[in-house]
Amino acid sequence: MAPPILPVLFCLVCCLPLVRPFHWQDPSPFDFIKSSAWLHKVKVAITTARSGHSKIPQGNGSYSVGCTDLMFNYGNKSTFMRLYYPTQDPDRFDTIWIPNKEYFFGLSKFLGTPRLIGNVLNFLYGSIKTPANWNSPLKTGEKYPLIVFSHGLGAFRTIYSAIGIDLASHGFIVAAVEHRDGSASATYYFEDQAAAEIKDRSWFYLKTVKQEEAEKVRKEQVQQRAKECSQALTAILDIEHGRPKENVLGSEFDVEQLKGSIDMNRIAVIGHSFGGATVIHALGEDRRFKCGIALDAWMFPVSDDLYSKIPQPLFFINSAKFQSPSAIIKMKKFYQPDKERKMITIRGSVHQNFADFTFVTGKIIGTKLTLKGEIDSGVAIGLTNKASLAFLQKHLGLHKDFDQWDSLVEGDNENLIPGSPSDSVTQSPAPQSSTGSHTQN
Ligand SMILES: *[C@@H]1O[C@H](CO)[C@@H](O)[C@H](O)[C@H]1NC(C)=O
Ligand SMILES: *[C@@H]1O[C@H](CO)[C@@H](O)[C@H](O)[C@H]1NC(C)=O
Repeated sequence: MAPPILPVLFCLVCCLPLVRPFHWQDPSPFDFIKSSAWLHKVKVAITTARSGHSKIPQGNGSYSVGCTDLMFNYGNKSTFMRLYYPTQDPDRFDTIWIPNKEYFFGLSKFLGTPRLIGNVLNFLYGSIKTPANWNSPLKTGEKYPLIVFSHGLGAFRTIYSAIGIDLASHGFIVAAVEHRDGSASATYYFEDQAAAEIKDRSWFYLKTVKQEEAEKVRKEQVQQRAKECSQALTAILDIEHGRPKENVLGSEFDVEQLKGSIDMNRIAVIGHSFGGATVIHALGEDRRFKCGIALDAWMFPVSDDLYSKIPQPLFFINSAKFQSPSAIIKMKKFYQPDKERKMITIRGSVHQNFADFTFVTGKIIGTKLTLKGEIDSGVAIGLTNKASLAFLQKHLGLHKDFDQWDSLVEGDNENLIPGSPSDSVTQSPAPQSSTGSHTQN
C-alpha cells in the first residue's frame, strides 16, 4: 500500500535522508512510517533540528580545532578533502557542517525523492555548525601525525566531524577525503581555472549500481578510493616538503602553514563502512600508512588477495548489528601470524553510530531510523575515539597519554565486546545479519 503523500513528505523531510544513504540495500525505506505516532516524532525531529539541541560533540583533547577545505587540481580526478587541525585561536565553532545545498539534493536523489526534499533538508540542516573554527590558522611549531579518513557509501567528506574534530583536538591533522568514484551522495570539482575563479562548480551525484554489476563496480570503486587516499596523502606531503600547491578553492587558509607541520613517519588511515574497506586496500597498496582503523567495515568489496598482504597493524571497530557472520570470517582472515590485529564490538551500537547524523536527530527518530542505537551516541563515539587514540599511539609511536585507553583496544569495558559477538560464549545474542553486508556477501 502506498503511504499517503503528506506523512511521507514529512518523514522524508525530517529523517529519511538521514538513514537511507546508509542502508543502501534496504528494499523498504518506508517501513518506519507504519508507526502510529509518526507525526509526534516528526515534530520532535524538526524541533531538535532547528533548536540546535542535538549537537555534534566537541573534541575532548587539549587543542582547539580548526577546519578548512582543500582542493588540488581541476577536473573529476582532482583531490578534495576537509582538513581538521590544531589551531591556536580560541574556540569559535563557525564551521558549516554540510556547506552546499547540492549535498542535500544528492541525499534526496539517492533516496529517490523529489528535489524539493533536498531543499527542505537544506532548510532544516543546512545551517548546522560543527565545533571547529573555520579557516583559522594552524598552530605551528609542532609536527603532527596525520590521519587520512575515508567516508562511507552515500556520505561525503564533512559528516564524520565528531571523529575528525576529536582526533584533531588530540594533536592530529585529519584529512577527510571526498571520493570521486561515484560513491559520495554528491561531490563537485572545477573544470578549469576559469571555472574555479567564478566558483562554477561541476557537480556529480551518486552512481546507481545494479545488483548484477555490484561486485565488479564496488571492487573498482574501492581501488579508486584507496588511490584517492594515497593521492591526498601525497598532496599534503608535497606541501610538507615545501612544494607549494594551490588550493583551487581559494580560501583564506594558507596551505603553506602545513610546511614543516606534518610528521611524515606517523601516518594512519581510518574509514567507515565502504571507507573501512578502503582502509584495508589503502594499507595493502601504500606502505606510507603505518596502521589502519576500519570502522564497521563493509567487507563485500574487499579483495581476497589482500589477506596476507597487509603487514601494518589493523584495528576493526564494529557496531553490534551490521556485520554478518561471513563478514566477520572475512575480517578474521586478516589475522595472519605475526600481524597485529584487533577487533572490538560496541554493544548496543548501530552502523550509523560512527557518522555525525547520529547526533542531529532526536532520540526517538534517531532510534527508529537506526541512526542511534541503544547505547548513547556520545558514549559510543567516545569509545571509538579513545580506542582509536590508544591504538594510534601504540602503532605510530606517539609520546602522549593515550595509552590510558589501552584496555579499550582489548574490549575491556562494559560497553565493549572483545572481538565479535560470536567470539564470546557469554554473549547471548548471535550477531544479527544486516541488510548492508548480508545481501551481497
Ligand atoms: C570524468 O571526466 C572524464 C573526462 O573528462 C569523463 O570521461 C568521465 O566520465 C568523468 N567521470 C565522472 C564520474 O564524471
Ligand atoms: C569525550 O569524552 C566523554 C567521556 O568519556 C565522551 O562521552 C564523549 O563522547 C567524548 N567526546 C568525543 C567527541 O569523543
